[in-house]
Amino acid sequence: FAPNSIFRDVRIGVIGGTGLYSLDGLKVVEEVTVETPWGLPSDPITIAETERGNKIAFLARHGRSHSVLPSEVNYRANIAALKALGVQVILAFSAVGSLREEIQPGDFVMLDQIIDRTKGVRADSFFTGTGVTAHASFGEPVSGLLRALVQNHSTAVPSITVHPSGTGVCMEGPAFSTRAESNLYRSWGASVINMTCIPESKLAREAEITYAIVCMATDYDAWRESEESVTVAEVMKTMKVNAANAKTLLLAALPDIEQAAYNDPEQALTKPETGSMQYAFQ
Ligand code: ADE
Repeated sequence: FAPNSIFRDVRIGVIGGTGLYSLDGLKVVEEVTVETPWGLPSDPITIAETERGNKIAFLARHGRSHSVLPSEVNYRANIAALKALGVQVILAFSAVGSLREEIQPGDFVMLDQIIDRTKGVRADSFFTGTGVTAHASFGEPVSGLLRALVQNHSTAVPSITVHPSGTGVCMEGPAFSTRAESNLYRSWGASVINMTCIPESKLAREAEITYAIVCMATDYDAWRESEESVTVAEVMKTMKVNAANAKTLLLAALPDIEQAAYNDPEQALTKPETGSMQYAFQ
């Protein structure tokens, strides 16, 4: 994925979404600019040390000043850069709209399924143009183990509900959905909507990195007749509270993630799923 000189044995990566541009409470040890065969990631990657002396890598998906639109994020470079540093487990965060009454703005959802409504404009495979034909299993797009591990720490954020599962629609954007689209996604059984979990989760799978995503609801999207449709101002307001809760949840779950990533001889969390990649031709 990148020259060996980049490798740092940082096994845990965190991708911050809208509103989550840095991590507090951890000692920053290095900032690295990682050039990959797919170009530069959204931002230099911050490497921080935890209280237990392990390293984690943080990347702001849209850049720390939020300058990169969802459709323009270089997802391949983002995942490849983390992989090059040694990352085996990624916990991602993403602002989402809620498609369900019971998922209130401020609540978190541990996504377990995804519906892809991006429009084919995003580079979504490491194998494109390589001459290698490979197929990644994607029936379970996120790691159930990592999802459960984070869910176990939901008591760290008692003021909100952390929903243990949910289906996310990933749309193209940047404009939000129409009311008809929003209702269509509800009729499909979807729980939340965002603009980034595809192809990020797909590329993590191709790179054989364990991946889960914490969705942070900021609004009720456009389906609710009784509400104004989602506005940027609404999203921004809820986002500030969400970012604080995201940091609390991450710091609470981190010791368990570290244990699994650095000290588990079984490598339950870090081992690529059996059969996750099938190479047809090489
Ligand atoms: N991100 C935050 N709110 C959203 C919404 N309603 N639709 C798509 N992406 C979002």
